[in-house]
Amino acid sequence: MNDTFLKALRGEETPYTPIWIMRQAGRYLKEYREVREGVDFLTLCKTPELAAKVSLQPVDILGVDAAILFSDILIPVEAMGMKLEFSEKHGPVLSEPIRSRALLEKLTVPDPEDDMPFVMETIKLLKSQLKVPLIGFSGAPFTLATYMIEGGGSKNFLFTKRVMYQNHGVFSGLMEKISDTVISYLRAQIRAGADTVQLFDTWAGVLSPDDYRVFALPYVKRIIKELKSEGAPIIYFVNGCAGLLKDIKTSGADAIGIDWRVDIGEAARTLGKKTVIQGNLDPCALLLPREIMKEKVKDILDKARGAAKGHIFNLGHGILPEIPVENAKSLVELVHELSGKAIAR
Ligand code: CP3
Repeated sequence: MNDTFLKALRGEETPYTPIWIMRQAGRYLKEYREVREGVDFLTLCKTPELAAKVSLQPVDILGVDAAILFSDILIPVEAMGMKLEFSEKHGPVLSEPIRSRALLEKLTVPDPEDDMPFVMETIKLLKSQLKVPLIGFSGAPFTLATYMIEGGGSKNFLFTKRVMYQNHGVFSGLMEKISDTVISYLRAQIRAGADTVQLFDTWAGVLSPDDYRVFALPYVKRIIKELKSEGAPIIYFVNGCAGLLKDIKTSGADAIGIDWRVDIGEAARTLGKKTVIQGNLDPCALLLPREIMKEKVKDILDKARGAAKGHIFNLGHGILPEIPVENAKSLVELVHELSGKAIAR
């Protein structure tokens, strides 16, 4: 078992800096596209043999130090009772967006074992095959609420903020239901074998710091507090985190994932030495010539070294479908080599 990633997550000494890549299983891999030719995306998420297969692909192809469960943050939203579709053009579409008390009341808090058994089956299958740790995950409440209130993706989150500001009872009721769902969902993932879990707060960065403290952070804190007794470290990723780091520091997470718009050295100084830091190469930097990418990787490794409780290398957000797989391979090699991994030649 390669446990370098878990050691770094616990703040222990490691022989080199571990790396995994957000969205590492996906369309930039021809092996993924081949599997997707035969099935639609939701069927792939709900078929444990296939979901496990695509989770393993980046581990075998890139040599990353951790695997992530193949699923989507909207799977528990569907289990709460919303109709979910993925359109090639528009991404996720949720019908009857939650903007009223009546629709909020129709939502349920699902039982993960009964309503999403395929997720736990995928985790068990993966654990029987993996030689690296497995990351489970969930969307964080604010990010899930944006999809549920907007009915899909959004540019300015007008509906979300309208409910937030004008109908606070509905907003907080929704956030509570989502938080209850996330707690039992992540607990089930950990009990099925996930070594750690990551909360994705992809859209929290659209909030002002004051609003983040009221409308997003308290729910994240409750989730983390309630999961502590499970014993698995928790990673909290916030996209657009720069203005929120002082507050994110109080989340209780073991590791904080940061995007690329902030200097990792500065972020580490704000977060302090009690937290492991994860990040933060610009996903588009994978398009640079290798020598220039190398400088950027080195810069991140240098700035993070000693600045936090530990460092896990990652991109600042998900890898894009347009990235050549060779460049992703180069990144993994560079991180390993530059941080001291002895390479067999
Ligand atoms: O490799 C992994 O990281 C594990 C799998 C994973 C997926 N989605 C697979 C996926 C994870 C961790 C997610 C999380 C997710 N899903 C987030 C949070 C992370 C982030 O990127 O900010 C969000 C916001 C979603 C919602 C979502 N799912 C959108 C907006 C889209 C459409 C856009 C797109 O990238 O296609 C998806 C679809 C999706 N989720 C795909 C994959 C591989 C593409 C589906 C396909 O095969 O066509």
